[in-house]
Amino acid sequence: MMRVLSSTCLVLSAAALLGACAPRESETAKATEPAATDVATAPMIKLPVSINATMVALVDHASEPLWVDAYVAPTTEARWQEAQYNAYQLAVAGKLIQLEGTGPNDAVWVADPTWKAIAEELSAAGMDALSAAKATDVALLDKAGSRIVAACEDCHKKFKPDLPTMGLFKSPNYPPKSE
Ligand code: HEC
Repeated sequence: MMRVLSSTCLVLSAAALLGACAPRESETAKATEPAATDVATAPMIKLPVSINATMVALVDHASEPLWVDAYVAPTTEARWQEAQYNAYQLAVAGKLIQLEGTGPNDAVWVADPTWKAIAEELSAAGMDALSAAKATDVALLDKAGSRIVAACEDCHKKFKPDLPTMGLFKSPNYPPKSE
């Protein structure tokens, strides 16, 4: 019995040794060839904060001064430049809110095709605002502003009907009083 066992061990050890030495070549090949599955298995990009925080700190923060600009037209190049930056932020925000963040409902929201469609609309409205700001055209900015509000309201009605609606002019710093 002992003899059988030890010879089995010997065979297994030999196989293990062979196994340890044999695959070198194919391993090297694997490391240098691009793996076809890399894209499919790549970890999904997630926001480091909640969508709610992104709303407050980015979406709301960028949109509010744009609405104010449509009422009280920027009079300096610097303020039109600010309007451009806010428009860029909104256009990008529409894409960012299609990524899940740390909020409890975020994953469900971003998986919804309606969410994606309205977020795209927000992004497109932000691009309208960018064109308006580049052209320093307050009438166009007003039009873009209406398109932006429609996207906010559309999404809030569908996805946060029980939460308080945003006020358009929350921050006391807009518009800047003098320049
Ligand atoms: C694609 C959907 C979507 C769009 C577009 C959207 N929101 Fe939101 N927003 C939400 C959801 C959902 C919440 C609540 C998130 C939570 O509670 O986790 C929220 C929360 C907020 C909040 C914080 C809660 C509150 O009501 O004060 C603000 C402020 C806000 N959004 C402003 C805006 C503004 C301004 C716009 C447009 C410029 C906008 N949102 C566009 C879905 C959207």
